[in-house]
Amino acid sequence: MIASEHWGLPEAQFWLRGERPADPVRQDLGTGGAHVYGHAEALRVLGDPRSYSSNTARLQPQMQEFVEGDLLQRDPPEHAELRTLVSRAFTPKVVAGLEPRIAELTLELLDRANGRLDLVADVAHPLPAIVIAELLGVPADERDLFTGWVDVALGGANSGEFDADPEQRTRTAVAMFRKLRDYLTEHADERRAQPRDDLLTRLVEAEVAGVRLTRAEVAHFATSLLIAGHLTTTMLLGNTVFCLDAHPEQQARVRADRSALPAVIEESLRLLSPFASVARVTTAEVELGGLRIPADRPVVVWLGAANRDPRRFPRPDDFDPDRAPNPHLGFGRGVHFCLGAPLARLEGEVVLDQFPALGTVPEDPPRFRRHPSLTGVERLPLRTS
Ligand code: HEM
Repeated sequence: MIASEHWGLPEAQFWLRGERPADPVRQDLGTGGAHVYGHAEALRVLGDPRSYSSNTARLQPQMQEFVEGDLLQRDPPEHAELRTLVSRAFTPKVVAGLEPRIAELTLELLDRANGRLDLVADVAHPLPAIVIAELLGVPADERDLFTGWVDVALGGANSGEFDADPEQRTRTAVAMFRKLRDYLTEHADERRAQPRDDLLTRLVEAEVAGVRLTRAEVAHFATSLLIAGHLTTTMLLGNTVFCLDAHPEQQARVRADRSALPAVIEESLRLLSPFASVARVTTAEVELGGLRIPADRPVVVWLGAANRDPRRFPRPDDFDPDRAPNPHLGFGRGVHFCLGAPLARLEGEVVLDQFPALGTVPEDPPRFRRHPSLTGVERLPLRTS
């Protein structure tokens, strides 16, 4: 087990301390909804979008204005239509083509670090932001601007100052979403007038059966890429290096054989799942784990806890890349399975492959984000050799 009290682990994520939930599903007395911790129960929710809708904005009317074009908020059948359209622009070929650039960027960022580096600040935070910016075609040197908005929209994810007042959080998120949308709309409008070789242009031009994305859909989809794809990848990179530092035998193994990397990345996603939870809303009364949940109630699926369900994963708190199969839910499951998973996996493999031998600095220990639903190192000072 690698979790320790000393790293500022998020209070709410009890499984990181090796604790097990009393039941796989627990009622939330405040909302009348439920928290789902078990793997089988999580699969049931994620596999039944008809009963468990992703359109959580229906409970937060202020967020309705961003739903158009946001895959994460759509239910079948509109979800499939939108996913088919955006998949025309965000293809496996586009992702695979990014490999040399990711390797070049990693080396550039590592070169700047001299003897000591904070893996998060120096590599894991800037790299995925630059990659998404270059992919979309927005200026990478403006990344502090849009990653700052994303950070605040996620409730202070990067500063570690999670704002606990839900109404204030929604107001702040709405303001940040608007900034992101306006910023991306401006860039998308430019592409309509002057196409370039980038994802925004491909989104503007994507067409299935004569149907194109609307202006709002392009902007909201691009926004969702920044929200879903930046900090999650930062955390994946940081958490995997953290796991390898705690397991020198695994570090030596991947250093000797790159083909061992994918299993290491999957196990890191299981043990320290960056998106610890996803939310759904019941569309009718449902029965789950022996509980009756009325319609229109929030259901929070704790992927991080399901990924440590001992009924599915023997020795769930151990970092064991040899688990086969490893049916973790770190990228979700079902129709909303992460669209960016191939990119996140590629970034993980390229970065870890480029890394020099690393070691944590005993007098400057790692620290985790304090966010209740994000799991990841916030600072990871390292010695390089
Ligand atoms: C969906 C996790 C990286 C784009 C999801 C979901 C999870 C997830 C759990 C499902 C959400 C749900 O069911 O409600 C992660 C993790 C990542 C990562 C852990 C990094 C390690 C990325 C990247 C991108 C991305 C790099 C794109 C640049 C998306 C999109 C969706 C999604 C667009 C929505 C798909 C849909 O609803 O059909 N991600 N993600 N993600 N992710 Fe990722």
